[in-house]
Amino acid sequence: MTVPLGMPQLQASLRAVDRPVFDGLRDRYGRVATDLRLSLTDKCNLRCSYCMPADGLPWLAKDAVLSAEEIVRIVGIGVRVLGVRELRLTGGEPLVRADVVEIIAALRTANPELPIALTTNAVGLDKKAVALKAAGLTRINISLDTLHPETFEQLARRPFFDRVLAGIEAADAAGLGPIKINSVLMRGINDADAPDLLAWCLERDYELRFIEQMPLDADHGWTREGMVTAGEIREMLGERFRLSPDPRARDGAPAERFQVRARDDEAVLGTVGIIASVTEPFCADCKRTRITAEGKVMSCLFSHEEVDLRGLLRAGASDDEVASLWQDAMWLKPRGHGMDHTGLGDADFVQPDRSMSAIGG
Ligand code: GTP
Ligand code: 5AD
Ligand code: SF4
Repeated sequence: MTVPLGMPQLQASLRAVDRPVFDGLRDRYGRVATDLRLSLTDKCNLRCSYCMPADGLPWLAKDAVLSAEEIVRIVGIGVRVLGVRELRLTGGEPLVRADVVEIIAALRTANPELPIALTTNAVGLDKKAVALKAAGLTRINISLDTLHPETFEQLARRPFFDRVLAGIEAADAAGLGPIKINSVLMRGINDADAPDLLAWCLERDYELRFIEQMPLDADHGWTREGMVTAGEIREMLGERFRLSPDPRARDGAPAERFQVRARDDEAVLGTVGIIASVTEPFCADCKRTRITAEGKVMSCLFSHEEVDLRGLLRAGASDDEVASLWQDAMWLKPRGHGMDHTGLGDADFVQPDRSMSAIGG
């Protein structure tokens, strides 16, 4: 079978997936993934209710998780063979991995020009920020949902608010900016904090992004009514600030950015992003490919199909064989996550078995 792709078609043969032969990580809908998100661990030291159950999850066994060498090899195949241009390290919480600094140093040595970003909850970052920067980390995104220690503890089920603040400050001081802050708003818990969070970030020159809560919590407690929508967020922020579209191109980024002013006739104070995955999906422009902590390719955050690269690596496969399997996985990337504008109104939508922590954010 050949599928029209707007490029020369070659005969597919002896492939696990019937697809044309091509360069890079292409899918059936014409998208090309160049942004690799790789999870270093499924473990986490917080229990945010929109992600993890209170008791945590059964963690992967140590030898199930990709080793540092395997990570470096997979990223190398992504960059040299498959056209990956940016790397984001995620988790779980990537900093709980004891060898995180060594992994970044090895990735940097092997890929001197590759932008390497990290998404973290910042617990323990105060002690690691300088070493991460020295190892070659480019920049950092940090989760912070509230400025109130009690609300933090209610949401994250751990009393670590002060440690997170210390982590953010240390990252900034270490030169890991531009610092981006991710906030998930939960109705009746921290949604009223939105304007204060924005003021706090603007004062410090951090770029705040509000993320619509997605049905990726292990408890399957997501409800359409509970989710605070992008429209509501714009409205809440509009009571204190003036938002106007940021003229910079979005370029497939999850966040739609707005310039923020105190009043229409005043100077721009900074920007705020809104990641409206549910109500304003951006799947058509997606450039992301994901590798889980145990080495499975997930072509989409909401994939039900996973393709195991770890088994191939451990069986002694060549780089080209690994690359080809990765291409197979991406070729089958779904068109979109299947939630329509009314949330789970799409009868076909089935929440994935994995929680956000087990996929990599
Ligand atoms: P930069 O803006 O380049 O720093 O990257 P980013 O926004 O992708 O970084 P980050 O890891 O902080 O991701 C922010 C959030 O965007 C994630 O936590 C997810 O909630 C959401 N997100 C990222 N990738 C996807 C995706 O493929 N699909 C959907 N629906 N949401 C995503
Ligand atoms: N919906 C939206 N964002 C989520 N995150 C974790 N779980 C969810 C969810 N269910 C975000 C965190 C963090 C990033 C890794 O993913 O806030 O910033
Ligand atoms: Fe919270 Fe991130 Fe940990 Fe999930 S992985 S519990 S969102 S800190």
